[in-house]
Amino acid sequence: MATRLEEPTARGLAGAVSRAIGDGALAPGAKLPPIRHVAHHLGLSPTTVSAAWQLLARSGAIRTGGRRGTIVAQPRATGPSRYRQALRQRARFALDLSTGVPDPALLPDLGPALRRLHATTPSSYLDEPIVAELESLLRDRWPFAAERLAILDGAMDALDHVASAMLRLGDRAVVESPGFPPLLDLLDALGVEVIGVGLDDSGPVPELLTAALALRPAAVFLQPRAQNPTGASWTMARAQELARLLAAAPSTVVIEDDSAGDIASTPLFSLGTWLPERTVHIGSFSKSHGPDLRLAAVGAPAAILDPILERRLLGQGWTSRLLQHLLLDLLNDPLSVAAVAKARKEYARRRDRVTDVLRRDGVDVNGADGINLWLPVADEQAALISLASEGVGAARGAAFLAEPPPGRAPARRMSQAHRTIGHAPQHLRVTVGLVSRDHADVAGRLSRATRAGSWPAPR
Ligand SMILES: Cc1ncc(COP(=O)(O)O)c(C=O)c1O
Repeated sequence: MATRLEEPTARGLAGAVSRAIGDGALAPGAKLPPIRHVAHHLGLSPTTVSAAWQLLARSGAIRTGGRRGTIVAQPRATGPSRYRQALRQRARFALDLSTGVPDPALLPDLGPALRRLHATTPSSYLDEPIVAELESLLRDRWPFAAERLAILDGAMDALDHVASAMLRLGDRAVVESPGFPPLLDLLDALGVEVIGVGLDDSGPVPELLTAALALRPAAVFLQPRAQNPTGASWTMARAQELARLLAAAPSTVVIEDDSAGDIASTPLFSLGTWLPERTVHIGSFSKSHGPDLRLAAVGAPAAILDPILERRLLGQGWTSRLLQHLLLDLLNDPLSVAAVAKARKEYARRRDRVTDVLRRDGVDVNGADGINLWLPVADEQAALISLASEGVGAARGAAFLAEPPPGRAPARRMSQAHRTIGHAPQHLRVTVGLVSRDHADVAGRLSRATRAGSWPAPR
C-alpha cells in the first residue's frame, strides 16, 4: 500500500486502496487490517485512515462494522437486477398484469403520421438537436418556464443522463419507496446511496422527506403523478409543501419523472414552478404515444442540461429528428389527440372498475391514476401463486422498495403521523390498465390473492 500511496491524506489513501481493489491486489472479501496498524505502517494518523475507510465505505468499495471487521466489498451487480426481479415470474399467463406497459390497443395509430413524414426536410449533423416546432409546442404545455428544453430517448435515458452527470460514487439520493425498480438499479450501478421515502395518496410524505433531506442528498427523484407503482399524484398543496421543504435544501437537485404523461388524469404540478433553478422535469411519451418511439422531453436549467447535451455529442449526438417530427405530427393531429384522450379515459375506467370491486371486498387499494395498482397482500409469494393458478401474472412488490441503507430504519417506519401506502406487509404491482374486460372477475381473482397465505387479509 505504501508504494501506491500518492498523497498522505484520507482521499489519497482511499484512492490507493481503490486502485489496489481495481487491479486485483485486494480481492473481494479480503479483510483489511485494523486502523491503527494501517496508520502505524503508513505513517498516517488513525483519524486519516478512519476518514479514508469512511470514503471507501460510502463509495461501496469496502464494508465496515460487520462480524468480520472491514472487508473489501463484492463488486456491485451493475445490471437491471431489481427490474428483472420484478418481472422474474414472467410466464405465459392468459392475462399478464406484471409488465407495467401500456395497452397497444390504446396507442394512437402511427400509420397516417408515418405516411405524412415524407414532407419533412431531411436533416443533417449540423441541425439543432431539437426540432424547433416541437420545442415551441412543448414549451406551451410545459409545467414551468424551463430555461432549456431537450428531447432524449425516453424517460429512462433521461434519468440515466441526468443521474450520471449529477451524481458521484458515494453521493446520496432520495427516491420514493415504493418506486421504479430500474431507477433503483441505475443508482446502484452509479454507487449512489439511496434513501427511500414513503408515500401517501398525494405523494411523498413531507415528514419523511424532511428526515431524508437532513442526510443532505445530492438529488431527489420524484414522480409528480400516476406514480409507478402506487398511482399517487401530488395535489397542489402537496407540491407546494414539497417545494417549501426542498427550498431549505439548496444543494439538492430535483428530478421529476412524469412517465404517464398524457394518459394521466390528474393535473401536473411541477416543483419547477417554485425551484426552476434546480428542477429537471422529464415528460415521457411512451405510455401515451408508444414505448417504441423512445421519446421524452426534458426541461431544466441550462447549467444542468447544457453539459449533458454537450457530452451527448460524443455519443448518440441527438435523438432522431425523424422521430421528433413523428411526435410533432401526433401531438398536432386531431385524430391522434383524440386517441390519447380516449386512452386516458379508458385507463381511468379500467382502474375504477377493478378498484371499486376490490374496495367493496375490503381491500385497501389506492390506484388513483396511471396504469398500475399497488395491491396490498398478506404474502407476496402466496399471492403470486394464487394469481398464477387463475392465469394472471403480477409483479412482486419487493423489487419496488428502496432498501434502507445499512444501519438505518426504513424511512416509512419513521412516521407515526402518516399512514403511508407501504404500510401493509407485502404488495404486488398489478398493471390494471391492461384489464380490458371482465373487470369484476379479474378483481375477484386479485381479491382472493390478497388473502392467500397464512395471514389474514390486510384491511
Ligand atoms: C416511473 C417510470 N419512469 C420511467 C419509465 C421509462 O419510460 P420511458 O419508456 O420513457 O423510458 C417508466 C416506464 O414504465 C416508468 O414507469
